[in-house]
Amino acid sequence: MKTIIEPFKIKSVEPIHFTTVEERTAILRNAGYNPFMINADDVLIDLLTDSGTAAMSAKQWAGMMDGDESYAGARSFYRFENTVKDITRFKYIIPTHQGRAAERILFSIVGEKGRFIPNNTHFDTTRANVEFSGAEAFDFPTEEGVHPDVVAPFKGNMNLHALEQFIREKGAANIPLCMITVTNNSGGGQPVSMENIRETKKLLSNYHIPLFLDACRFAENAFFIKKREKGYENKTPKEIVQEMFSYADGCTMSAKKDAIVNMGGFLALNDDELATKARNLLIITEGFSTYGGLAGRDLEAIAQGLTEVLDEHYLMYRLRSIEYLGEKLTSASVPILQPPGGHAIYLDARRFASHIPVHQYPGQAIVCELYRSAGIRSVEIGSVMFGKYDAEGKLISPPMELVRLAIPRRVYTQSHIDYVSECVIDVFKRREDLHGYRITYEAPQLRHFTARLEPL
Ligand code: F0G
Repeated sequence: MKTIIEPFKIKSVEPIHFTTVEERTAILRNAGYNPFMINADDVLIDLLTDSGTAAMSAKQWAGMMDGDESYAGARSFYRFENTVKDITRFKYIIPTHQGRAAERILFSIVGEKGRFIPNNTHFDTTRANVEFSGAEAFDFPTEEGVHPDVVAPFKGNMNLHALEQFIREKGAANIPLCMITVTNNSGGGQPVSMENIRETKKLLSNYHIPLFLDACRFAENAFFIKKREKGYENKTPKEIVQEMFSYADGCTMSAKKDAIVNMGGFLALNDDELATKARNLLIITEGFSTYGGLAGRDLEAIAQGLTEVLDEHYLMYRLRSIEYLGEKLTSASVPILQPPGGHAIYLDARRFASHIPVHQYPGQAIVCELYRSAGIRSVEIGSVMFGKYDAEGKLISPPMELVRLAIPRRVYTQSHIDYVSECVIDVFKRREDLHGYRITYEAPQLRHFTARLEPL
């Protein structure tokens, strides 16, 4: 097997900025030890997120010039709408400025106090939008999905047994819809199998509960199905994607991931009444129904990106580049969530920094040291991001303490990734020197974005 190469050549480059350890020590302190508070110019390799950070293709940039900026009925909207319909086969395609805008519209219609939304694992903005509507969000990962070192092909799957029990307990009438997040981002970028999507739909049909996909990384999920699920080896990514969506009644989408653009999203669905309500809400806060908070040029770029993302060479390279980093770290015994996901490597902070108790945020300790020593920006996905407090003010932790190294699409080359692996291994070798953190400021919702911390 020969090296799987980047399936593109580079036409335009952007310099990255080098800083010294001393400079970064001060930057980190000023940022309250929160990577979201660091200026991007002070970051060497930015693995904070794969969202909106992709490099667009020449054809996408050409589409930007060709964008039709008419207020209503723009040509670019119809190109966007046709492309999304071709992939999803949903009846109504509603553009939004990003994924969370689609979530907000959806949940402000179906969510209210006394209602419950199940998901394999909610992403943080999805959970926040469910809760903001007054409804409650519940996660149903499988048992293998919450053990970082268990290797299984579809660790993103929905726990069907627990879901059915939940429906019986809460009553189907109080569950306006169920979501499946593909790939399961908060659960490690792990894929969901076609069988699991199909079975979830079957179960929900018995209770007349609609199924929605949180479809941000639908193409990466489809390629895992092609590689790992029997019967899909010879299908094209597009055929697999179409089958995935055929089991759903709608989806929310952040185009900032698998549409390979810097901004955009959509809500797509079949229900006439829901679509009318959603469009009315869209017009109040996002924009008219044929642009929804986006410029015509953005709609062009999304349409083109959705076509490019289903290219097999692209998807093979994409999944391989994540796996490559995973293999390098694993061969140096760095504990990572296994197997590597579709868009990121997740360090298992509990095992990586096992001497730091969870309430002192071991993941944050790794994030800070990776930045301080190497200029690499990553993000904690553990108790800083998802931690809640009980009535006595004691921290309630999520099942896993992870550090995500998210790989932007088509941005970094193999030598950047080699550098990242060398630096992570270096921090791992010095892990005994890591120390815990304490939160000194936090907002009531989505606290990780603005929290301030200090070293203990
Ligand atoms: N759902 C999932 C699974 C996501 O990963 C994200 C964003 C969203 C919804 C919201 O989309 O940002 O366009 O509003 N995830 C980014 C990340 C922010 O870093 O994983 P958005």
